Order: sequence, then structure tokens, then C-alpha cells
Amino acid sequence: MPTVLSLIEAKRDGASLSDAAIQAFVDGVVAPEAPARFPDYQVAAFLMAVFFRGLDDRERRTLTLAMCHSGETLAFPADPDRPVVDKHSSGGVGDKVSLPLAPLLACLGFRVPMISGRSLGITGGTLDKLESIPGFTTRLSRERILRQVEELGVAMAGQTENMVPADRRLYALRDVTGTVPQRDLITASILSKKLAEGLQALVLDVKFGSGAFLHAYADARVLAETLVQLANACGVRTRAMLTDMETPLGRAAGNWLEIRETVQCLSGAGPADLRELVIAQAAQLLLQTGRAEDVAAATTEASRCLDSGAPLARWNDLLAAQGADLARYAMLLCADAIVPAVGELKALESGYVTRCAAGILGAVIRDLGGGRVRQDSTLNPGVGIDHLRKPGEQVQAGEVLCRVHAADGPSLEVGLARAREAFEIQPEPPAPRPLIREILG
Ligand code: URA
Repeated sequence: MPTVLSLIEAKRDGASLSDAAIQAFVDGVVAPEAPARFPDYQVAAFLMAVFFRGLDDRERRTLTLAMCHSGETLAFPADPDRPVVDKHSSGGVGDKVSLPLAPLLACLGFRVPMISGRSLGITGGTLDKLESIPGFTTRLSRERILRQVEELGVAMAGQTENMVPADRRLYALRDVTGTVPQRDLITASILSKKLAEGLQALVLDVKFGSGAFLHAYADARVLAETLVQLANACGVRTRAMLTDMETPLGRAAGNWLEIRETVQCLSGAGPADLRELVIAQAAQLLLQTGRAEDVAAATTEASRCLDSGAPLARWNDLLAAQGADLARYAMLLCADAIVPAVGELKALESGYVTRCAAGILGAVIRDLGGGRVRQDSTLNPGVGIDHLRKPGEQVQAGEVLCRVHAADGPSLEVGLARAREAFEIQPEPPAPRPLIREILG
């Protein structure tokens, strides 16, 4: 059995690790206690070695499958009328698509056992957003996910000691060791969770731009190809959308603020870009499972369903099923803000917004307490940014470019000053950028 030190050294020096060596690494990650359990500092060192050296195709596949099988996996009874499907994003600022999409998919007749992650780097995480709802639990056992998905069509859960535990530990360590933006680690992390769900079809949202892990379109495209190839090779019909993350998605970013925007989207309102992605991803899954003839029919079906109000009712059922305190939730939804310090960032000149940099705003939100800088960082669910003005929109001097929600006055002042750096205003509008650049698979 190789020692963890020998694995670190081998990867540091650029070796291709054997399947047995990769399995030994994952075993050491999930072992319950020392000496079998590898310490955080050595796991982190191995991740940094992979960050710089990468994995070849075989190593990436072996790591993905070893992580997937590091705990229990899901298997659903065959039911051709209710395919088991899911989506996953590579991560972005304000990217709350999973939240309205999951109940929409359930209303379209799919079964959706969604296993997600927490905030990662400057991007928000589905679990942290959901846990900003009072009482909502994302810690579900395998049996509970299976039952809830059969009954309600949807469950939204996180990695646990029993389900994809390897990703649970590696994900948390990558978040605070600068080892997130790496194609092989992202692929293994995403697909270990998705392959554990027993899916028939999967749509991936691979983001590029300053608010994504891979800024360059070409790099994100390689990630998308890698994900699509491996997921399909493992038997899950998968497509990837490459979507623009230069600007935050929607007009709000931050855990609780994104729950509010989710409810707007489910109510037939909310920002157009959010609605566009929710409908496009639902439509993709209708196509991938042969439930719609073409994109136009799939889009119409998904839009009609979203506008019917049924997905909002299913969202409320999901909240009740997973323990939300519905009275407190309803009270919070009526509040304009749930933190004491809210300030407006005003335009200094008139013109068109030409930049609203997701990378800068994501870092502002993380540092306000919306994400982690250490493993033991405590999140403040109410911090974030809303009322965002987006590229192409005309503003007058003195109009609000965004609001910053902070825990106190001093952090609000810092947040407002840093948020200003994200915006650029010019006399002419910018060239429009499509939100969905390409669909692969
Ligand atoms: N989402 C994941 O689950 N893992 C990553 O590494 C990035 C996005």
C-alpha cells in the first residue's frame, strides 16, 4: 500500500498514478480515523500537486469513479414515464438556476435527486442558499432521498459521510486551499456526485468569464468536453451548455437574496437571464429524454409549466418536506433585507453600463461573509448584492447601480467601495453578448 507521502511526491513529479494508487488516496480521504485517515495537510498537498500536474484520461476516470463509490449510491425503480435527471453548474456568481429548475423538472414529470455542494471560491453553492431558509435541512439519508423523489419528484441534498463522502472532504479542502479552478478536480467533483444519483440524463452548465473558475472560453470548452465525454462513457446521456459568467446571473447574489429571486422566478417574474437559463436547461432535458420533438416544442412546454404556478407549489412542498419553518420563511420573504446594514451604490455619471464584473462582486460577497475563507468560517445568510444594473442598461447619474447588504456599517462601507470597481459606464452601449454560447453533446 503506497503512503500518502509517496502519492504526493509521485504526482508532484508528474507521474501517472496507477488505479490502485488513486483508490488508496480516496480510501485515505474517507477513512474514519487516523492512521488510515490522511491528514488535511497531506490531502491538500496532493490536491495542489494535481492542480499543477493534472490527471490523464484514465486517472481522471478512476478518481471520479472512486469518489462516486466512496459511499452509498442511489438506484431508482425503472419507470419510463418518469426519467431520473439532474443538472449541475460548474459554478458562478448569482447562479441560482438549480433552485427553480429542480421543482420545474419535477412538475414536468421527471424524478430529480439533486446532490449539490456549498459555496466554492467566489461562487455561491446550492446548499448554502437552501440553508439560508430557516429550518431547511440538506442532510438527507439515501433512503429519504429515494422516498422523497418517488413521492414529490425532487430532493435537494448535500454530500454526507454516507453519500459521496470523498467529494465532501475534498470539496471543503479545495475551497480554502486555492485548488478549485482545475479541470480534472472539477470533473471528478461534479461527476462523482452526479454518477452517484443513478441518472438517465444530465445537463451541465459550464460557465466562463470572470465569475467562473475557468475565465477563458477555450478552457471552459475543454472542461465541458471532458465532462460530457466521461459522463456519457459512464452511461448518463449528458449535454453541456457553455454560458457567460462575465456578469452575475440575475439581479441578486448572496445566499438569502438568491432564494428571494428564486421565488420571483417561480412566480413568473424575476430577471430575464435567470428565466432563460432555467427554461433552456429544462428544455434540454426534455429533448435528451425524448420527451419533446424539437427545441421549440421543449421550450414551449417548459415555459408553460413554469408559468402554470405548479413549480412554485412544488417548491413550497419541497421546503415543507425538508423541514423549513414556513412561517419564518414567509416573514423573511416579506422583508426587504435581513441584515442591519444596506447601502446603495449610485452611478457617478450617466451612460450605459458596459461592465458589471462578476469576479469582483463574487469576491465582495464572499468577504462580506457570504462564502468561506477558512474551513471554519461562519456564513451570514443575509449578506450580498441586489438591484444590480446589468451591461447594456442605461443609467442616469445618481441612480442605483446595486445595493450591498452587510452585517454592519464598516463592512458595508468596504463592500460599497469594492463593488464600485465592478462597474463601468460609457457613453455607448456595449455589444450584446449571448448568454448561452454553445451546447455540446
Ligand atoms: N461544482 C462542483 O460540484 N465541484 C466543483 O469542483 C465545481 C463546481
